[in-house]
Formats: sequence, C-alpha cells, structure tokens
Amino acid sequence: MKKVGNHTSFSRILLFCLALSLSFSLTSFAQETAAPAAAEAPAGGAAAPAAGAGDPVKGKELFNSLCAACHKLDAKSTGPALRGVADRHDRAWIYKWVHNSSEMIKSGDPAAVKLFAENNNSVMTPFPQLSEGDIDNIMAYTSMPIENGGGGGGVKAPVVDPNANGGSSNALILGALILVLGVLIVMLVLVNRTLRRVAASNGVVIVDEPRLSLWKAYAKNQFLVLVTVILLMLASSYFLYGYLMQIGVDQGYEPVQPIHFSHKIHAGDNGIDCKYCHSSARVSKASGIPSLNVCMNCHKNIAEFQGDKDSLYVDHSKEFYTGEIKKLYNAVGWDATAQKYTGVQKPVKWVRIHNLPDFVYFNHSQHVTVAGVECQTCHGPVEKMEVMRQHSPLTMGWCINCHRTTDVKVEGNEYYAKIHDELAKKYGKDKLTAADMGGTECGKCHY
Ligand code: HEC
Ligand code: HEC
Ligand code: HEC
Ligand code: HEC
Ligand code: HEC
Ligand code: HEC
Repeated sequence: MKKVGNHTSFSRILLFCLALSLSFSLTSFAQETAAPAAAEAPAGGAAAPAAGAGDPVKGKELFNSLCAACHKLDAKSTGPALRGVADRHDRAWIYKWVHNSSEMIKSGDPAAVKLFAENNNSVMTPFPQLSEGDIDNIMAYTSMPIENGGGGGGVKAPVVDPNANGGSSNALILGALILVLGVLIVMLVLVNRTLRRVAASNGVVIVDEPRLSLWKAYAKNQFLVLVTVILLMLASSYFLYGYLMQIGVDQGYEPVQPIHFSHKIHAGDNGIDCKYCHSSARVSKASGIPSLNVCMNCHKNIAEFQGDKDSLYVDHSKEFYTGEIKKLYNAVGWDATAQKYTGVQKPVKWVRIHNLPDFVYFNHSQHVTVAGVECQTCHGPVEKMEVMRQHSPLTMGWCINCHRTTDVKVEGNEYYAKIHDELAKKYGKDKLTAADMGGTECGKCHY
C-alpha cells in the first residue's frame, strides 16, 4: 500500500501549489483595481471648490497665464499687489474692471480714475473673454492667506499619481510569477523523485543510458543544422533592416537644454497656451522658439520659483528652478534688484530637437490652421513633459499614414468645399482624406 501513500502526498503538493499560485494572482489583481479607486478619492475631494466661492487652483492657472505679467500677489509691479483685492472692491466692480478697465476710467468711475492716476496712467489689458466664474476663481486665488512667507503656497490639490501604484503592483506580479515558477520547478523535482520511488517500489530498474553529447548529436542531424542556418540568416537580416531603418530617425531625442525649461510647468500646470510662445505655428511654415523677450513678459515679475506648498508635482527643488530663472536673467541681461536691463546679453542657444532633412517641405500653418490638427497629435503630451523630447518618428511613412487616414477639414473654407465636392463625386465617397487631395504626391513634400 505504499503506492497509495505516494499518490496522496503527490496530489496534496499539487493542490497546495495551485492554491498558492491562485491566491497570489488574486492579491495582485485586487491591488491593481484598488489603486486607481484610492487615487481618485483624495484628488477629487480636495479639488472641489466650495459653492460660489471660486476655485483657487483654477484661479492660480489663470493668474499665472494672464495676470502675472503685470501683477504680483504681494508686491507692486506694473499694477498693484493683488492679494486681498477682493476685499477692496465689490465683486460687480471687479468684473467690470477686468472686462474693460479703460471704459470705467473714461466713464469717470472715481475708484477707477484714482487707481489709474496712482499707477502712472498705465493701462491694464482688457479681458472680455473671462467669464465671471473665471474672475471668481482668480479672486479666490488672490484671497488665499500667505503661507510659508511666500506667494502662492498650497493652492494645489494634492496630486496623487494614479500610475504611482502601477510600478509596485507590476513588481508584485513579477514576484508572484517567479514564485510560481519556483514552485513548479520544486514540483517537477518532487514528481521526478516520487516517480523514481514508485518505480523502485515496483521493482523497475532505471538504467541511465550513456548519452551522446548534445553537441555531437546536433552536428550529426543535418536537418537541424539547416534550420539553424536559415533562422540565423533571417534574424540577422531582420536586425540589419531595423538598424538601417532607424538611421536618421531621432524619435525620443531629448537633449539637455542650456536653460532647463519645463513644458510641464508652463503649458501644463500654469496653462499657458502653446501659441503664446510658438506664435508663428498658426501663420507660417515654422513654429519657432520664442525670443527671450517673450519670456520676460512674465519673468520680469516671476523671479523665483514658488511652485506649491508640497510641490509634489515638480521634479526638482525650488532652488534648482529659481537658479534656472536666474540663467534667463543672465542671458537677457536683466538686473532683478535694480529692475532694469544692463545691456549685456548672452543669447541662449536652444538645441534643436525636431529636424526634417532639407529636401522635405513641411508647413505648420497648413496642419495647425488649415487642417486643424492639434499640436499634441504630432508632438505628444507636451504639457506633461518636464523635458521636451521628439515624440513622433518624423519618417515619410509617418507623414503618409496620417495623410491616408485623416479627413480634410472643409468647414469654413469655400474654396476647399468646392474642390472637395468635385473630388468626392469623382472618388464616390463622402469624406476625403488628405491623401485624396494629393497628400501622397511626391512633389507636395519634396522640393
Ligand atoms: C498689461 C498689464 C496688466 C495685466 C496683464 C493685468 N493688469 Fe490688472 N492692473 C494693471 C494696472 C496698471 C493696474 C492699475 C490701474 C491702472 O493703471 O489702470 C491694474 C489694476 C488691477 C486691479 C485693481 C487693483 C486695486 O488695487 O484696486 C485689479 C482687480 C486687476 N488689475 C486685476 C487683474 C486681473 C484679474 C488680471 C488678469 C486677468 C490683470 N489685472 C491683468 C495692469 C495689468
Ligand atoms: C512659455 C513659453 C512656451 C510655451 C507656453 C510652450 N513652449 Fe514649446 N518651447 C519653448 C521653448 C523655450 C522651447 C525650446 C527649449 C526646449 O526644447 O525645451 C520649446 C520647444 C518646443 C518644441 C521642440 C522644438 C524643437 O527644437 O524641435 C516643441 C515641439 C514645442 N516646444 C511644442 C510646444 C507645444 C505643443 C506647446 C503647448 C502645449 C508648447 N510648446 C508651449 C517655449 C514654450
Ligand atoms: C505667460 C507667462 C510666462 C512666460 C511667457 C514664460 N514663463 Fe517661465 N514661468 C512662468 C510661471 C508661472 C512659472 C512658475 C512659477 C512658479 O510656480 O513659482 C515659470 C517658471 C519658469 C522656470 C522655472 C521652472 C522651469 O521651467 O525650469 C524657468 C527656468 C522659466 N520659467 C523660464 C522661462 C523661459 C526661458 C521662458 C521663455 C522661453 C519663459 N519662462 C516664459 C510663466 C511664464
Ligand atoms: C502634422 C504634425 C505637426 C503638428 C500638428 C504640429 N507640428 Fe510642430 N513640428 C512638426 C514637424 C514635422 C516638425 C519638424 C519641422 C522641420 O524640421 O522643418 C515640427 C517642428 C516644431 C518645432 C521646432 C521649430 C520649427 O518650427 O521647426 C516647434 C517649436 C513646434 N513644431 C511646435 C509646434 C506647435 C506649438 C504646434 C501646435 C500649434 C505644432 N508644432 C503642431 C509636426 C507638427
Ligand atoms: C496628424 C496627421 C498628419 C501628419 C502626421 C502629417 N500631415 Fe500633412 N497634412 C495633414 C492633413 C489633414 C492635411 C490636409 C490639409 C489641408 O486641408 O490642406 C495635410 C496636408 C499636407 C500638405 C499639403 C498637401 C496638399 O495637398 O496641398 C503637405 C505638403 C503636407 N501635409 C506635408 C506633410 C509632411 C512632410 C509630414 C511629415 C513630416 C506631414 N505632412 C505629416 C495631416 C498630417
Ligand atoms: C507626406 C509627405 C511626403 C510625401 C508625399 C513623399 N515623401 Fe518622401 N519623404 C518624406 C519625409 C518626411 C522624408 C524624410 C524621412 C526621414 O528623414 O527619415 C522623406 C524621405 C524620402 C527619401 C529619402 C530616403 C528616406 O527614406 O529617408 C526618398 C528617396 C523619398 N522620400 C522619395 C519619395 C517619393 C519617390 C515620393 C512619391 C512617391 C515621396 N517621397 C513622397 C515625406 C514625403
């Protein structure tokens, strides 16, 4: 009855292993689904503004992108310090003022006239595009109490990165897999031993045959050798092809720039429009890098990086970022203490990242304005990039693929609408792609 004993111990091991691997895959699964749920709760809760009071987080974005060029929170610059301004005027006055301050001054509003005179008759830009809700948000931001002695401390909702848990749960799955593998190996060894014991108890003698060395056996088998040679040839031509195809393709290129300029901080956290800096993308062939004067529109006032109280979202220290702003001052020759230009300039040499060969014609306005393609379609999630990198391959195949799949935008373009209708009839379909309009003709892209 020895066999039976062996049998039960073997099946017990099997059962145990199964249970173990099952429980592991279950726990890692539960971790994965729990993580995003946990991540959502605090972010959503903290970001919700109190009813009617305005949202200081949104307000900060608006303030930094529209008002910071002339206003600081706690010091006078072109305009007065704005902290607590909501208590200095009633709300209706502020709406009117922000929408069009010149009109109020002209109409003789006493408070407006006085302000104007106090500030050397400087004119504030009108912002008719801001809704009353937007202005409430800005006022909520300017009404934040001072924290850490600094400016806009602590308005950011705690940022919980939903991906943060992804790494650990991946590691967990990997660990579980390795464990299961280990268990399987142990099982095999045990099974082998059990079988040998079963064989022994049944009186079967296991003879270890003298084995031909593996290599010799292999060399003798001509078929195997042939298959290997063919496989080797296929693999090497595959890699050679891959290598040749990536020549001149710089996808992912991410050089270190002379000033650490974060698109995440500017375009993402502070919501500055791409076209504020890359203004020529809309109207011309090239997008261009903004001149340092454009930077100084804001940075005359923003001399230090304050970020947020917990600054969870930033990748470097405040000192580092402030140092980078100092580099900007150094380059344009701005003396921050005397608040004037010294006249000594050291132009910044930005490293060019996207670069098509000279024999290719690419036009931004055609894509951004005429075709209505978003910057991010080609350049990726720029507003999340701490360091700019090339997102797309910029190969001919990439251009042509998109021309084959993207419909031409015809609304609001009579000339196009007419050609479109004619061509649509000719090809017998309702929607035309850029390729149908000639977007795959060599001459369109090659000089
Ligand atoms: C081009 C510069 C400029 C910009 C941009 C600007 N302001 Fe002003 N702002 C001024 C000036 C200058 C004054 C002082 C009054 C004057 O001279 O017209 C002022 C005054 C004010 C006042 C009254 C302050 C007080 O002490 O009573 C408020 C409120 C105000 N601005 C809000 C804003 C908001 C909100 C924004 C952004 C949406 C903004 N400003 C953008 C220049 C600017
Ligand atoms: C505050 C000004 C500013 C804003 C706003 C801004 N950029 Fe930039 N951008 C720059 C500067 C400066 C550089 C050069 C430094 C670098 O590469 O990081 C640059 C570089 C780039 C490059 C790479 C250029 C190259 O050399 O190939 C791309 C692409 C780009 N920006 C796209 C965008 C997009 C898309 C947005 C909007 C989501 C945006 N930018 C918003 C200032 C800005
Ligand atoms: C529309 C306003 C605006 C313009 C234009 C602008 N910045 Fe900024 N910049 C900001 C704001 C807002 C911050 C964040 C300040 C904070 O959080 O305390 C910032 C932060 C920075 C920082 C520190 C963080 C980082 O990105 O490394 C640097 C350096 C900087 N800017 C450089 C530039 C340069 C160079 C340009 C011109 C190409 C430029 N800025 C144009 C508003 C602007
Ligand atoms: C259809 C794809 C596409 C779209 C949409 C697009 N770009 Fe580009 N961008 C490119 C290509 C391709 C290059 C390289 C151009 C070259 O080397 O001549 C480039 C280059 C750039 C450069 C480097 C300087 C230059 O002009 O060559 C900047 C900055 C830039 N893009 C910003 C933007 C911004 C901002 C937007 C949105 C307003 C935008 N791009 C939309 C494809 C695109
Ligand atoms: C995201 C999609 C997309 C990508 C990527 C793209 N294009 Fe386009 N392109 C379009 C669309 C849509 C049009 C049609 C615009 C219009 O209505 O004229 C167009 C039009 C053109 C035209 C004008 C064609 C004509 O009939 O006059 C040229 C030239 C062109 N693209 C070149 C390029 C080059 C070069 C690249 C690669 C570096 C590229 N495009 C990448 C979407 C794209
Ligand atoms: C939509 C734009 C577009 C059209 C249409 C187009 N090309 Fe290209 N072509 C490119 C781009 C972009 C490159 C650069 C690719 C790179 O640098 O990797 C290129 C590169 C090339 C090259 C250099 C070899 C290489 O792959 O780098 C040749 C040759 C070429 N094209 C031939 C043609 C011919 C022939 C046609 C017409 C059948 C054509 N192209 C149509 C955009 C286009």
